Amino acid sequence: MKRLSGALALVMLSGVALAADNPDWAYPVTPKPEPHDNVVQKQVPGSSKQYTQAQIDDPYNPPDWFPDAHPPMPEIVARGGPKPAGRACAQCHLPSGDGHPESSSLAGLPANYIIRQMAAFKNGERNNVRAGVMIAMAKVLSDAEVKASADYFAVLKPSAGYNKVVETATVAKSYLGAGAMRFAVAGGGTEPIGKRIIVLPQDEARAKMRDPKSGFIDYVPAGSIARGARLATGGNGETVACAICHGPNLRGLGEVPGISGRPATYMFRQLNDMKTGKRTGPWVELMKQVVVKLDDDDMIGLSAYIGSLNP
Ligand code: HEC
Ligand code: HEC
Repeated sequence: MKRLSGALALVMLSGVALAADNPDWAYPVTPKPEPHDNVVQKQVPGSSKQYTQAQIDDPYNPPDWFPDAHPPMPEIVARGGPKPAGRACAQCHLPSGDGHPESSSLAGLPANYIIRQMAAFKNGERNNVRAGVMIAMAKVLSDAEVKASADYFAVLKPSAGYNKVVETATVAKSYLGAGAMRFAVAGGGTEPIGKRIIVLPQDEARAKMRDPKSGFIDYVPAGSIARGARLATGGNGETVACAICHGPNLRGLGEVPGISGRPATYMFRQLNDMKTGKRTGPWVELMKQVVVKLDDDDMIGLSAYIGSLNP
């Protein structure tokens, strides 16, 4: 779908730009779930476990294909909290914390940062159209559950190569499938990438099984990574050098989250939200000067560049 040019109209209100300009590739809407098979036992390479698709998509007991690859999961991460809103974090963010791009990665984020984000979902500071599930969850979890999940994800190491960034002129035609994940249309040919980041699984079948060892590819317009690399050092004053706050190699500094190697569509969504006012709060004030002059090409470039770095 084309972006509505009417949505480009900005309302300036006390210096804050209110723009309803959310490209659909960055804000995927979850289609109606299909009934899941509960007979066929599935497996991923290297794991001795077996689950049916119904078990794989169980929000209160998602699969743990490689239990030895991570510390023991607290109850909230493995099975969730108060039902129905309190789902298991591992469903969307995976036991590895590398997560699915339509959600976010959490591995290695500072625990206090995670706790602050849960508060931001709860109090309305983070309220984009993708955040519904997080908002509902943040409202029902206890402080102890939030802390246990934050402590769990903070010690995990993000996996190198899980998110790959590829520059291209054309990309496979794709559609939004279960859980708002994007898949290539089988035999559907290609289309121009345009001004978009199109994220597809490195292996569709394994992504559908929530295999934490099978990551994603962000297809980005040619020239994006170089554009982002230039802006990441401040550009010609369009923005502020990221490393000042996000630390050396952009791997995080104190309570400022790492951004290197993270899902590019998620990164774009956050930059855009901070620009349009869908993500606010005292710490987000520090990002205001970073995003205020950036256009979509700049934010695609920065997301592609930081996504291409080693985590
Ligand atoms: C059903 C899917 C789903 C589940 C289950 C889920 N999340 Fe999320 N989470 C999301 C989505 C989608 C986003 C991205 C929201 C946005 O774009 O702002 C997100 C974002 C986040 C973020 C923001 C990350 C960042 O870098 O700022 C945190 C923190 C988070 N989730 C924590 C949790 C915790 C803790 C749990 C378990 C208690 C959990 N999530 C369970 C879907 C989920
Ligand atoms: C002056 C300090 C500062 C600078 C410079 C800065 N950032 Fe940030 N950034 C922050 C802080 C602080 C946060 C976390 C906000 C919060 O806690 O909610 C953040 C969050 C983000 C996030 C969201 C991360 C997530 O997990 O959701 C992205 C993406 C981001 N910054 C990208 C950038 C990029 C790209 C640059 C350089 C062009 C940059 N930042 C420069 C301070 C800064």
